[in-house]
Amino acid sequence: MSTALEGLVRQTFCVISEGELCKKIIAPQQWLHSKIQSLDQLNACVDRAVAQGLRLLLVVGEDELSRSLQLVDLKKQNNPDFAFGVLLVSKEPKEFLRKQGLPLQVVDILSEKEAKSQLDYFLLKNIRPHGMANNAGNKIGAALLGKLNAIFTELSKEKNAEKLFEKIVRKTIEFGECSAVVLQILREQDGENYFTPKVSLELNSELIIDRTTNIVDENSLFGYVVQTGKMHTVFHFDKSRTSNRGDHNPVYDYSNLDSVDSIVTIPLKNSQGEIEGVLQVVFKSHESLSATKRKTHFDFEDETLWSTFANQVGSVLENVKFYADVQGLFEGFVRASVKAIEARDKSTGGHSERVAKMCVGLARAVTECEVGTYRLVKFRDEEIRELEYAAMLHDFGKIGVREEVLKKAKKLHGWQLTGIEERLKICKAAAKIHSLERKIRSGHMNDKIVDEDYEKRIKELENYWEIIRTSNSPTVLKRENLTALDRIRGEQLVLPDGEKIALLSNDEYEALSIMQGTLTEDERLEIESHVKHTFQFLKDIPWTREFKNLTDIAHCHHEKLDGTGYPRRLVSHEIPLQSKIMTIADIYDALTARDRVYKDMVPVEKALDILYEEVKAGKLDEALFELFVAKKIFEHAQLKVIHQVA
Ligand SMILES: [Fe+2]
Ligand SMILES: [Fe+2]
Repeated sequence: MSTALEGLVRQTFCVISEGELCKKIIAPQQWLHSKIQSLDQLNACVDRAVAQGLRLLLVVGEDELSRSLQLVDLKKQNNPDFAFGVLLVSKEPKEFLRKQGLPLQVVDILSEKEAKSQLDYFLLKNIRPHGMANNAGNKIGAALLGKLNAIFTELSKEKNAEKLFEKIVRKTIEFGECSAVVLQILREQDGENYFTPKVSLELNSELIIDRTTNIVDENSLFGYVVQTGKMHTVFHFDKSRTSNRGDHNPVYDYSNLDSVDSIVTIPLKNSQGEIEGVLQVVFKSHESLSATKRKTHFDFEDETLWSTFANQVGSVLENVKFYADVQGLFEGFVRASVKAIEARDKSTGGHSERVAKMCVGLARAVTECEVGTYRLVKFRDEEIRELEYAAMLHDFGKIGVREEVLKKAKKLHGWQLTGIEERLKICKAAAKIHSLERKIRSGHMNDKIVDEDYEKRIKELENYWEIIRTSNSPTVLKRENLTALDRIRGEQLVLPDGEKIALLSNDEYEALSIMQGTLTEDERLEIESHVKHTFQFLKDIPWTREFKNLTDIAHCHHEKLDGTGYPRRLVSHEIPLQSKIMTIADIYDALTARDRVYKDMVPVEKALDILYEEVKAGKLDEALFELFVAKKIFEHAQLKVIHQVA
């Protein structure tokens, strides 16, 4: 028997009830124990334990539980250092646990059958050491506290769940001076508890992450700890031990059992007392202390320390889960917003995501670059994610732009072109009427001059239609077309009631005389207003601290370094670097997108030339553009995976 175990046996007084459920129970021979039949006898035993400074393990059935607990609790109030625990023997342990849960003082619950075969050492160690923390030997020293603080300061900075799991096992093996550590994260779905992932680290070995999802099985040390919610220690691990309570199960538990001395399985609880995960710490006996500086076995006195450690790890896990929930929420919100924009205008489908991919690529390239203008700029993962989200949402404001403007493929709206076509038909009919009137007036129905005039007019009107049709396309307007439009604008249509209307309205003339593109001045301003709408939308969202610049980054995506951008005409030093990155990605994608209705797709080389012209004109950032080209960031737009940011 190890020194630690001998110590426990010497320090503990086991008192067994002779009630119905417990009467056949016999304590192991070396244990200090006594059988009792009444509360008076229990009272005497408790007094003896208090007087001799012994810990008390009371074994009782369900019927005696309440009165026994009251009595020992009463003694505890007068003797704060008195440590005790009650072992409950139950006919239906599962039913009892389901209905009532275990009172704090109950160290374990056993079925009648189990109690007969398994009254064992692990029950002794489970008696909570009330008051022992006040003893010098068990006090957590200032140096140790400092060490714990340093560990948890580092752990609480980690926002990425998987990186945190890895850090937890590495810090545990370092802090506990043990031989191996296994961490299982508990997840709940549809009322069932699952473990995933399982992160294991053996001294001097590689870390293993097993992402298999396993339903929690109580026939394992991990499962048992989830069921009871209590730390569980196996001293002098015995591979042959068979039991359905807290038995070793290699699927869940630490599996390399060579030389294992003790296995401590610890629940990691959050601030609500719910289990977030379970940590298993393994001590091996074969290792030389001097060579490895490892502990070869678990000491009973370590329990307080491990409880403190586990509480802290539990709260860090809770934080990272909360953080992941918030991230998931934002991610879902961003994706839903992008869907809403793209449902509005399918021709720009995928634009936001491609711009986001290129922004992430360029921001990473800036971070990795050790030379040039931005050699000192190092974006953190959170900043890259902020830029990614800003890019996904940069055009959200287009939702506030009229659909007919957003999707305008020609200079005239469809209904405008139809109106002109109808007016031309009326003009043709008027020409016919006019020629017939002339013939009637002259009395010559075969008047060739009248016929020629009529033909000439019809050709003229058809020529008008051709000019209007060709001017309507978004290509550069020919000079002669503009002159012809001026002529057409002067044409008037006389209705039967004498009212005169212009063949081309002022709005139609203005639209057709656009020199390039499809938008009138008012429509261009309306499209540009999407940036303001984006800003109005984003500024009202309560972003977390790490996304505090997201709105500003998106707000500046159409600003140019020389102050010619919009909406605020900012100049270089007023524009965030992230926005300068986004501007390059945004223009590149707008040029090369194959699905815009109002323009043809521009080849990559041509698009880079156009961007370079903008750089030379002092509108885009030269160093960023060089990285964009050198690192072929434009190819990131085609990457399948996004959200690689940790
Ligand atoms: Fe935009
Ligand atoms: Fe855009």
